[in-house]
Amino acid sequence: MLTTLDFVLKLAHVIGATVLLGTGAGIAFFMLMAHLDGKPSVVAAVARIVVIADFLFTATAVVAQPVTGILLAHKLGYSLLEGWIVLSILLYVFTGAFWLPVVWMQMRMRDLAAAAAGNDASLPRAYHLLFRLWFAFGFPAFAAVLGIFWLMIARPSIAMWPSG
Ligand code: HEM
Repeated sequence: MLTTLDFVLKLAHVIGATVLLGTGAGIAFFMLMAHLDGKPSVVAAVARIVVIADFLFTATAVVAQPVTGILLAHKLGYSLLEGWIVLSILLYVFTGAFWLPVVWMQMRMRDLAAAAAGNDASLPRAYHLLFRLWFAFGFPAFAAVLGIFWLMIARPSIAMWPSG
């Protein structure tokens, strides 16, 4: 039976997971739509909002998720050395390694698009290069988050440490 505290922790943890995946998917969609539209003013406006959303929602969830996860593990009696938890933490760090540069890329794309819009110019080559990189970085990050969802739900027994 879950106690009220267990329930609140789990609720916070599941909401955090939803925010991480939902904000990531939403940002990817809106950035892609703005890019396909191609107008520098549209790209600049969307990227400006995306950067705010990433700082407000993703960054908060990124910090809160391991905190609620570790508290949950403690409350429910899991060791942090269990295979599915170790693997999740490794995948989490892996995702973060792709997410941090993405945040920088979004700020750079916002600035390049705003400058182009201000000069009545088209989106510069540097923007297009960054967009391609930004797009490519999304795939491993999303795959890793889906992997974490699977590990959290299935909680497979994975032997991480040689016995004996
Ligand atoms: C980074 C450190 C993390 C730790 C230590 C951790 C730990 C845990 C623990 C102990 C549970 C409860 C398992 C149970 O009910 O028996 C749980 C559930 C869950 N976690 Fe995590 N977690 C972490 C990160 C994440 C991340 C990054 C996500 C997704 C983005 C996530 C998504 C979930 C979900 C959806 C559940 C509910 C699974 C279910 O009830 O079937 N967790 N986590």
